[in-house]
Amino acid sequence: MTVKLTWHGHAAWSIDADGAKIVVDPFLKPNNPSAQVTVDDLGADFILVTHGHGDHVSDLVALAKRTGALVIANFEIYTWLGNHGVEHAHPMNHGGAFSFPFGRVKMTNAIHSSMLPDGSYGGNPGGFLIQFNDGHDVYFAGDTALTYDMKLIGEVGGVDLAVLPIGDNFTMGPEDAILAAQWVKAKHVLPTHYNTFPYIVVDAAAFAKRLQRESGIDCTVLAVDESFTLA
Ligand code: NI
Ligand code: MN
Repeated sequence: MTVKLTWHGHAAWSIDADGAKIVVDPFLKPNNPSAQVTVDDLGADFILVTHGHGDHVSDLVALAKRTGALVIANFEIYTWLGNHGVEHAHPMNHGGAFSFPFGRVKMTNAIHSSMLPDGSYGGNPGGFLIQFNDGHDVYFAGDTALTYDMKLIGEVGGVDLAVLPIGDNFTMGPEDAILAAQWVKAKHVLPTHYNTFPYIVVDAAAFAKRLQRESGIDCTVLAVDESFTLA
């Protein structure tokens, strides 16, 4: 059993978990200047949404409508989706977990903001802690500052993989992401949310080296549309 994660540029990911296709924060070509795939190229059974900003939801309604995927998001985004004709959605809120066919998903805290592109209130931003059916634990931090709440994830056993923003300016930068990786007790890190725009240009390879040197945690810097597999 495997969990395969593919980076589409910025903070857009797709996951293949033993045949279940999960897309995280759909922001695709041409909206996403880093992406090579469009909303028509991706399959999805489930879509996870961390928060309401355009660089996470620009392709959400189109992808949900085309694929019929179940969208998992906070209550406010769930409500907004209903107003945009997407009824197949599942509302959650922080600290709550629910078992989906691919695994158990818990919504975690994120320190950020979350207005939707049309100005609607997006509720509070979050991240996701996913315990896949094959036993792998993956933490998608979402857009967030470094927060002591991350220590709670480490205290309950840590994660096999943490997907952490490193772009700085709007989220944690590399220095704080190194602490985040340690606090959640990650075995491996994939960096996200960097280099898409001039505000968030960072040296991901230097981050990976420094993370390994300072904490012993491995980090894989993916190229756009490259994949990482937990086996
Ligand atoms: Ni954001
Ligand atoms: Mn963002």
